[in-house]
Order: sequence, then structure tokens, then C-alpha cells
Amino acid sequence: MRETKAIIERVTRLNEHYQRLHLATEDYLNDIKPGQTVLARLADRWDPYLREQWWPVDAAPNRLIVERPGSLRYEPGQSVSLLGPVGQPYRYRRTLRNVLLLADDTTPTPLVMSMSWLLSNQISVTLVLAGQAALYPTQHLPPEIEVQHADATLGWPNRVMTVGWADQVFVVVRPDDELGRFGRIWSLFGELRAEIPKSYLFGIFQPVQPCGVGACQACLLPLRGGETTLACTQGPAVDLTQVRFS
Ligand code: FES
Repeated sequence: MRETKAIIERVTRLNEHYQRLHLATEDYLNDIKPGQTVLARLADRWDPYLREQWWPVDAAPNRLIVERPGSLRYEPGQSVSLLGPVGQPYRYRRTLRNVLLLADDTTPTPLVMSMSWLLSNQISVTLVLAGQAALYPTQHLPPEIEVQHADATLGWPNRVMTVGWADQVFVVVRPDDELGRFGRIWSLFGELRAEIPKSYLFGIFQPVQPCGVGACQACLLPLRGGETTLACTQGPAVDLTQVRFS
């Protein structure tokens, strides 16, 4: 992980809730993969004191596009300090045909960068938006993506079939109580499938990450058998078969 300066070249709005920052960066971030993030701070601000986790949605030579809440104010020309890449790329199975992405009452931004990568590898993608995730506009997403909106009980049309067909599932939940919310997702999938195999159902964890390199233990997650893991170095996607929810 290295630190670099980036410049906000453009700010584009998806809708009132989401905007994208087009950053000019050093080329070592060109290889950033779906699942990896950067820890960012505007160069002229110390508020918030800790760096924020920014999720790339696209990367190209010397360019990084990140998605941010629409309520925050950014200006072209602003300088940003970036630390990254943080975390491990999402671990896809070798043989993969269908992937289910689920955003439960939170932004689906951590899932967005993976969509074009999956489609370019002829893998079909279903995106389910529940609760606050429905505020995310989907018109800009590739038309091949099947978008479903879930109701308050996390039900959506053909849910049993979608879950059964999926070779892997990546879920993001509201970060206020990730273990509790992922525990409910675990129970739901346990009802929908005879068994939940390893490397099938992944939770994408987004705890506050003060260091991003495994030094401060702030992002420690409990695993079964009394083990632990760190979201910043081993995550953000963690196989939910390994997680201890309570
Ligand atoms: S953020 Fe410091 S150990 Fe993970």
C-alpha cells in the first residue's frame, strides 16, 4: 500500500443521492481490482479526522472513478491524498455462470466495480436492491444486469430461483450493525437453500479502518472456532460460513 496525491478532475451526478469523482492518479492504482478500496482525505481538510474508505467503480490508466454520497461537496481541482489499494480482490470461483449481488438497506457502491468485470467474462449478474438501496439509480448500469427491487421482508420475484441459480452471492449491508445484519442474511439463505457451501455467500464488511494495513486491529472480525480476521487485510469480502455472528 502506498500514498499518492490525486486531483479531482470532474464531478458528475448520478442523482441527488450519488455523485462520481473522476480522479487523476498515479499509475500504480491502475491495477486496483473489484473489492479493493482507497483510504482518502481531501488534502486541505482534517474533518473527518480519519480517512474515509472510497470505493472505486472504474479504473483506467492514471484514472480512478469513485462513487460518493450526493450530499457531500467536492470541487474539480481539489487535491486528495489516497492510501491504497486496501484489501483483497473479491474471490470468484473458477467456474462461475451466475452471480447475485445484494445491497440491503445501504448503497450498492461496493458491488458496482465488479459488475462490468463479471459481464466481460460472460457471467450473468442479478442486482437486488432493498430498503435505502432503492435510492441508487440504475439507468447507467449495463443493460445486461437484471435489477430487482426487494420488499421489506427481503422478498423479490423468483427469489428461490435466483438464489438457487447463483454460484456466488456478494452482500453489502448498512454498516451500523454488520454482524447482526449479516446474521439475518445467513438465516434467510439457510431457509432458501438446503445448505450454504463454502465460498458461496460473502459479506462485504466496511468497518472504520484507521490504518488499513493490519496494525490497529480496529477492523477485527470474529470467526467461528474463536478465530479472528481483519477486514482491511483479509476482507472486505468474508465467507459467511466462517463468521461468528454472536
Ligand atoms: S484498519 Fe487497522 S487493522 Fe484494519
